[in-house]
Amino acid sequence: MRTKVVIIGGGPSGLLLSRFLSLDGIDNIVLEKQSKSHVIGRIRAGVLESGTTKMLQKAGVSGRLNKEGFVHDGIQLSFKNHGFRIDLKKLTNKHVTVYGQTEVTKDLYEKIEKENNNIINNVDDVLPQDLDQKNPFVTFKKDGVENKIKCDFVAGCDGYHGISRQVIPQNLTKIYEKVYPFGWLGILSETPPVSDELIYANHGNGFALASMRNSNLSRYYIQTPITDKIENWTDKKFWEELKKRLPTHAADTLITGKSIEKSIAPLRSFVCEPMSWQKLFLVGDAAHIVPPTGAKGLNLAVSDVYYLYNGLKKHYLLNIDNDLKLYSQIALSRVWKAIRFSWWMTTTFHKFPEQTDFDQCIQDSELAYLENSIASQTVLAENYVGLPF
Ligand code: APR
Ligand code: PHB
Repeated sequence: MRTKVVIIGGGPSGLLLSRFLSLDGIDNIVLEKQSKSHVIGRIRAGVLESGTTKMLQKAGVSGRLNKEGFVHDGIQLSFKNHGFRIDLKKLTNKHVTVYGQTEVTKDLYEKIEKENNNIINNVDDVLPQDLDQKNPFVTFKKDGVENKIKCDFVAGCDGYHGISRQVIPQNLTKIYEKVYPFGWLGILSETPPVSDELIYANHGNGFALASMRNSNLSRYYIQTPITDKIENWTDKKFWEELKKRLPTHAADTLITGKSIEKSIAPLRSFVCEPMSWQKLFLVGDAAHIVPPTGAKGLNLAVSDVYYLYNGLKKHYLLNIDNDLKLYSQIALSRVWKAIRFSWWMTTTFHKFPEQTDFDQCIQDSELAYLENSIASQTVLAENYVGLPF
C-alpha cells in the first residue's frame, strides 16, 4: 500500500486532519487501534471555541452542530457561594458552543465513511519507520496480518498513550509536565441542567463545575483527592457535596437524580517539544495535555490540525515547505498560551493539599477582582473563547 499521509489515531485530531486533506485530494489513511463504537463511545467535554466551530463548518461536518449545539454567550464563576457572570459575547464578540465531543467524532466518522472510507479500525502494532529517510513507511497488523504502508509523512494523532511520540529519539525531545494533586469526580445525570450556562465554582471544600450535554442531560464535577475511589461516592453524597460548593442560587434550584455515568479523572499539564521530527508531526493529545478546567483539549487539537493541514497543503499544492518546517514552533506558541490559561483556571479554582487560609484569601481576592474588573474579565474571556489561529 502507498499513500501521501498516514494518520495514526482516529480521534478528533486524526479524523479532522484526514477530512481536510481529503477535501484537497491529498491521499491519506487513518490507522485506529480501537473499534469505531469504542472511539465514538468516549464521554468527553464538548465546549467548542469559535475557531473550532468554524473549522468544523469548513470541514462540512457542522450540520448537527448547527442544529443541536448550544450557543453560550457567557459563563458563571463563583467563590464563597457567590456567583457572577462573565459576558463572553460583550467582551470578545465571540461565544462558545456546547456540543459533546462524542458528537463531533460521530459527525466526522459519518462524513469520512461516506466520502472517503479511509479509516482502518482495530489495527495492532502500528509502527512508523524510516521517518528520517527518503521513503518512510508504517507497519501494522490487521486481523493478525502484517501490513506496510509507504508514505511521504506521518501524522501522530494517537493521543497521550500513543506510539508516535515514543519513536522520536528521546535526546531530541524535552518534556514539560505538571501533575495536579487532585482529580475530578464527574457524573452524568438525566436531569435538567441547574443553569443554562456553565458554572465554575471555587469553594473551601474544593472545586465544582456544573455543565450539560442537552436540556435533560447534566454533567457535574467535584474536585476529589486523586486517591479517592468511586465506591466512596453514593449519588446522595455527591449531590450533597455539590450543593455545598455551588453558588447559592444554583444549590437552591439543583434538580438531582440517578447518575448514569460516574468516573474520576486525573489532571495534568503536559507538553512535548518539538511537535515534529523529520517526516513525523504530532497533533493534539499526542503532543500536549491540559487539565479540563479551561476546556481546551479538543480545541487545541483543532488548531494543531489547522497548522499541519495548511503546511501539508502548501507542500503538495504549491511545493512550499516553509509552513511544515515551522509547524512545531507555530503550534507550540498557541499550545503554551492554552497551557497557561488552563493552569491559571486550575490553580485559581482548586483547593491544594497544603493550601493555607492565606492561599484561600488570595484565590477569593483574585475572583473578587475579576468580578469587578472589565480588564480582568476580558483577559479570561479572550482565552476562554479561544485565541485566534
Ligand atoms: N495505534 C493506532 N491508534 C492509536 C494508538 C496506536 N498505537 N494509540 C492510540 N490510538 C488511538 C486511540 O484509540 C484514540 O482513538 O488514537 C486516538 C487518539 O485520540 P484522542 O486520545 O481523543 O486524542 P486527540 O484525537 O488528539 O483528541 C484531542 O479531544 O479526545 C478529546 O479532550 C480530548 O484532549 C483530547 C482531544
Ligand atoms: C464538560 O461539559 O464535560 C466540561 C465543560 C467545561 C470544562 C470541562 C468539562 O471546562
